Amino acid sequence: MNTPKIFVVGAGTMGQGIAQLAAQKGHDVCLYDLHSIALEKAKSQIEKSLEKLVEKGKLTQENQVEILRKLKFVNELHEVAHSDLVIEAIVEDVAIKHKVFIALEALASEDCILATNTSSLSIASIAVALKVPSRFLGIHFFNPATLMPLVEIIPSVLTDPKITVKAKAYIDGLGKDTVVCKDTPGFIVNRVARPFYGEALRIYEEGIADFATIDWAMKTFGGFKMGPFELMDYIGNDVNYTVTETVFEAFYFDPRFKPSFTQKRLKEAGLWGKKTGRGFYSYDPNEEKPKPNTDEKMGMEIFNRILSMLVNEAYDAVFMQVASPKDIDLAMVKGVNYPRGLLEWSVAMGPEKILATLETLFLEYGEDRYRPNPLLRKCVREGLILG
Ligand SMILES: NC(=O)c1ccc[n+]([C@@H]2O[C@H](COP(=O)([O-])OP(=O)(O)OC[C@H]3O[C@@H](n4cnc5c(N)ncnc54)[C@H](O)[C@@H]3O)[C@@H](O)[C@H]2O)c1
Repeated sequence: MNTPKIFVVGAGTMGQGIAQLAAQKGHDVCLYDLHSIALEKAKSQIEKSLEKLVEKGKLTQENQVEILRKLKFVNELHEVAHSDLVIEAIVEDVAIKHKVFIALEALASEDCILATNTSSLSIASIAVALKVPSRFLGIHFFNPATLMPLVEIIPSVLTDPKITVKAKAYIDGLGKDTVVCKDTPGFIVNRVARPFYGEALRIYEEGIADFATIDWAMKTFGGFKMGPFELMDYIGNDVNYTVTETVFEAFYFDPRFKPSFTQKRLKEAGLWGKKTGRGFYSYDPNEEKPKPNTDEKMGMEIFNRILSMLVNEAYDAVFMQVASPKDIDLAMVKGVNYPRGLLEWSVAMGPEKILATLETLFLEYGEDRYRPNPLLRKCVREGLILG
């Protein structure tokens, strides 16, 4: 296979990461943006990022020169004519994406694959604007695209299966771990990860424990690198809340995905986390970090509750055929750094234990949010292991 030429649309956070990665892997890349200021900023940030890699000894100066030679910053769409793959990473607005893809389709060669990096729109809703939607699909990178190993490949109902295979091979060629998933809200990661935040917020709202204690429990008993509140502050409560709300609405208001007022208030108040200096925690270096209550019994209960909700979500994704069990486990390890795949984790812990925790919660609260997934029940009943 010849090294495909890649055309990246949108030189913001994701576009510049994807362009840099592709150039580092030896592809000729065009990075396009409507705004020349965005292109200039992207160019200088990519240069800085490569400079750092040279300082760290990860690249030679010759590599750096070669990579920059492979990158072209353009503000004309017609440059797309010689590309094999287009990856769009512009604003999350379906009408604007339609306009851009209609223009790209008219200029790109017939064999060129067209892809969107959207996080929250359905692939079908963008595909519908194209004359030939069979060559269009979702290629979802994680931030920062140069570092995060996972990429979700999402064909729409209109995508030609051969295009999915070809696009996956292109992205595998970038050294990424690819998983294929159905065009459903949140794809794999942004769906399965919701209880990590949602259940932690619920535990806090019920007054069972404070942020520091819940974070301590998940790190100590689960081996997570960051606790839910630390992670929400890191991602930004503005971004994280919006993802939850979008997934909740897209799932026709399934109570499993219900957003939290606590986080909504932080979003409204501009307490977005690290980037604004305050979220669940204060990032003022003069303020002391709150101390957790390190009661082991309570810590274990918190961990079991959140993990059981996560595992239930992973079984649901398999049950609804969003992706294979292997890809669902891989996605959570490579996309959000979980210490292990959730399905594998449930087997190690004993799925009957997870089911018992969910049944107790369901009985206690009488809320649909805690209903155990039928596939989890089946696995416990029949001793099945997914894989
Ligand atoms: N930021 C993330 O963590 C993340 C992760 C995965 C996927 N995504 C998705 O990637 C896409 C881009 O997100 P981002 O965070 O990089 O956005 P961003 O705001 O950082 O960048 C968007 C860029 O698109 C440009 N743009 C806007 N309209 C354009 C047009 N009509 N033609 C060409 N360029 C145009 C803007 O000038 C800007 O440079 C979105 O669809 C988002 O859902 C974002």
